[in-house]
Amino acid sequence: WHGWRGIIEEYRDRLPVGETSPVVTLREGGTPLVPAQVLSERTGCEVHLKVEGANPTGSFKDRGMTMAISAAKEAGAKAVICASTGNTSASAAAYAVRAGMVCAVLVPQGKIALGKMGQALVHGAKILQVDGNFDDCLTLARGLSEKYPVALVNSVNPARIEGQKTAAFEIVDMLGDAPDIHVLPVGNAGNITAYWKGYQEYAAEDGPASRAPRMWGFQASGSAPFVRGEPVKEPATIATAIRIGNPASWTQAERARDESGGFIDEVTDRQILAAYRMLASQEGVFVEPASAASVAGLLKAAEQGKVDPGQRIVCTVTGNGLKDPDWAVAGAPQPVIVPVDADAAAVRLGLA
Ligand code: F0G
Repeated sequence: WHGWRGIIEEYRDRLPVGETSPVVTLREGGTPLVPAQVLSERTGCEVHLKVEGANPTGSFKDRGMTMAISAAKEAGAKAVICASTGNTSASAAAYAVRAGMVCAVLVPQGKIALGKMGQALVHGAKILQVDGNFDDCLTLARGLSEKYPVALVNSVNPARIEGQKTAAFEIVDMLGDAPDIHVLPVGNAGNITAYWKGYQEYAAEDGPASRAPRMWGFQASGSAPFVRGEPVKEPATIATAIRIGNPASWTQAERARDESGGFIDEVTDRQILAAYRMLASQEGVFVEPASAASVAGLLKAAEQGKVDPGQRIVCTVTGNGLKDPDWAVAGAPQPVIVPVDADAAAVRLGLA
């Protein structure tokens, strides 16, 4: 018995890996596809959640990182670098440990969730907080990787996209075909690019899917360059993971949108937080705020009458809620304190 072997072994024939290439893995992928009962009722559709927070470091980034770090190892790299709003750095740090490499991460100062910073720290990454936003961090990381012996593992690295496309494979493998619509949050736009690549490959003549879905992407209103049609100089949103003004995979994401007959729209922070609370309190799925942008977008589209009933829809929820628990606690009432007394506890619980 070997269980789930990680995305490289499970999808080896569809990935650019050689037979003797090293495989650096934490057994990522194989994440749950959870039927969303309340969302299905509210939209009149069959809605599923692809719960990517169930990956080893708590986000979808692990799918790309197993590929990128394995490729870096094969190329003989001793050190890797990434710019990150938090999840990429957490993932890179963990996989670098597995590969015996040094990991350097550049994060926007004061704008990454505590859990993600904790992950990079505990995995021993060298962290620089940059006095700038994610886009500045990426410029810096690119410059460093061009000048110094350090491999860039952001999603501008094609190995990352290859790994992340396996989420689309898993969805088709589980549902028997592609959904009608796939909804996901958009930040640096690597993931929408990767899903589209995966769906297209599976919908090719010899592939297991009969079609590819329409791709619906959602950005936070204050960080919505695709909606504005130009880069946003000072991106702002509480969903720090997608606080990005100048996405690296711009043209690829627009191609995914247009070729699939989909769209990229925006959701407000208020809509994101409402979806975040709804997912936790009604579906039992705790995600980080950026992840809830997909669900907020689906609900917005449904309210606008854009969602025909009876369709099969998959929403990717990209990261685990534990990474950024501040929003779960904020505004919630303090739990009451009781003595070690069953009757007193029963009264407080409304049982007596
Ligand atoms: N959701 C989460 C939780 C993310 O961390 C990210 C990106 C996205 C969605 C957007 O995905 O960039 O492929 O469009 N996080 C990157 C990072 C930027 O550094 O962790 P995208």
